[in-house]
Amino acid sequence: MLFRKACALLGLGLLAQAQTFNNPIIYEDFPDNDIFLGPDGKTFYWSSSNFHYSPGAPILESTDLVNWQVIGHSVPSISDFGSDYSMQNGKTAYNRGTWASTLRHRKSNGEWYWIGCIDFWTTHVYTAPDITGPWSQSSSFQPCFYDCGLLIDDDDTMYVAYGSNNVSVAQLAADGLSVAKTQVVFSYPSPCTAIEGNRMYKINGLYYILDDCPGEGITVIWKSSSPWGPYTHKILSNATASPVPGTGTAQQGSLIEAPNGNWYFMSFAWAYPLGRLPILAPVTWGSDGFPVLQTVNGAWGESYPLPLPESSVTSWIGGDQFWGIDPAWEWNHAPDTTKFSLAEPGLILQTATVTNDLYHARNTLTRRPNQAFPVGTLQLDFTNMADGDQCGLALFRDSSAWIGVVRNGNSYTVTAVQGLTQDAGNSYATTSTGTVVGTAPISARTVYLQVRFDSRTVGSNQATFYYSTDGNNFSQLGGAFNLDNTYYYFMGYRYGIFNFATKALGGSVKVDGFVSWSN
Ligand SMILES: *[C@@H]1O[C@H](CO)[C@@H](O)[C@H](O)[C@H]1NC(C)=O
Ligand SMILES: *[C@@H]1O[C@H](CO)[C@@H](O)[C@H](O)[C@H]1NC(C)=O
Ligand SMILES: *[C@@H]1O[C@H](CO)[C@@H](O)[C@H](O)[C@H]1NC(C)=O
Repeated sequence: MLFRKACALLGLGLLAQAQTFNNPIIYEDFPDNDIFLGPDGKTFYWSSSNFHYSPGAPILESTDLVNWQVIGHSVPSISDFGSDYSMQNGKTAYNRGTWASTLRHRKSNGEWYWIGCIDFWTTHVYTAPDITGPWSQSSSFQPCFYDCGLLIDDDDTMYVAYGSNNVSVAQLAADGLSVAKTQVVFSYPSPCTAIEGNRMYKINGLYYILDDCPGEGITVIWKSSSPWGPYTHKILSNATASPVPGTGTAQQGSLIEAPNGNWYFMSFAWAYPLGRLPILAPVTWGSDGFPVLQTVNGAWGESYPLPLPESSVTSWIGGDQFWGIDPAWEWNHAPDTTKFSLAEPGLILQTATVTNDLYHARNTLTRRPNQAFPVGTLQLDFTNMADGDQCGLALFRDSSAWIGVVRNGNSYTVTAVQGLTQDAGNSYATTSTGTVVGTAPISARTVYLQVRFDSRTVGSNQATFYYSTDGNNFSQLGGAFNLDNTYYYFMGYRYGIFNFATKALGGSVKVDGFVSWSN
């Protein structure tokens, strides 16, 4: 850092050019970004979607557009959306929950507003006096603001652009909690067959709507002197090749103005099995008042100059001993809050469900894996397991596998299970609870469980599972598991720490630590 500053003082521009960032910006699954500069004019905020994970709608923060950190969530518990979201009555809400929502700060009353459509077709508004909360549900209404973008105009009027195919603009009531007026402002342009991912901005006195044609990989930018139109459009990105190998074209995202007046487009690559990885590129403005994406040889650049001086660099990998629950962790569905507690350090997970199906077990704690070759290691104390309990570490999606400990009577067995599956065509009903592919006896009451995988879309897409009693000598259990690299589940693979009962509640395990690493 000192060296960089010295160079800048000497005006060594060539050396300064070495200050670049690489795409993806975060090598993790943070889709549907809605990014804007906050009220201090220095801090950027990012609202993302996380579907059936709770808390919902993660919020990230950055001062340089490159180093981001998860600071909280706009939806404190997705149990607000109905009993399915807490896995009540045998129901689940996989692949539902938060998607393509929007977040802004309103100067006039200092409130933060998150707006999203849940379960076709109800729009929910959450508000908070501070970005860190407390967040609460302030209203729910129709219509569904499908893929919505909030603009708070200079005169404090709140507009939301939303819709697929036909895009509408709604003007909200003065309190921002209901719809005063809504009107279709344009339909998808040729050669598109649909349009979505709407964001709305006011730039130099003009209204802009950014959206994309998902089938064609085209990002479109629309401009008008009135929020109600008429809008004219230009293509911002025409099937621009993604910088992440094998992930097709980039489309959808946010237009962002940095405090220094430079502009950027944050989009995402569809990089399954890991998920949707955010990618950043500069934009410039043409004399016609439309933005122009800065590509490298016609493709999205793998790297570009840093937008702003780099703040402290975020470490996405490392260890967690659970002195608290960092917001980077999210539960699979809304948890039973009476069934977990902090041991400082450590996290105690009591069994919360009697089931033989991981997809119906409450209180699985998840985390996004990081980088091309993620390694997740869980240290678990299972002294207090009850007869019939199953606990461990899953690689969790609609096609899952796990390694863990199974207690039957007084026999404890390290067990590897693969091939847990759900049916996308039938509300993600479980189609298989998996097959045991390996077992090993264990006499200790503490175990290290590990999963390693190749997350690259162009890679092997295979995961392997290991256990150890000393944290050094890891033995593989079961063969390689083939990951699902399709997109329709939307969320990518996660680490899942689970503990469920097959006989009766009452047992517990203690999570001593988790290390997220990358080979
Ligand atoms: C959607 O747009 C098409 C084409 O402009 C128009 O014919 C149709 O009436 C619109 N639908 C609605 C619901 O406004
Ligand atoms: C996108 O690029 C392709 C290939 O260059 C071209 O054929 C097509 O006309 C472009 N589409 C639009 C809408 O500009
Ligand atoms: C590593 O662990 C395996 C399985 O418990 C055991 O068979 C092997 O002897 C151990 N190796 C060393 C070097 O301790």
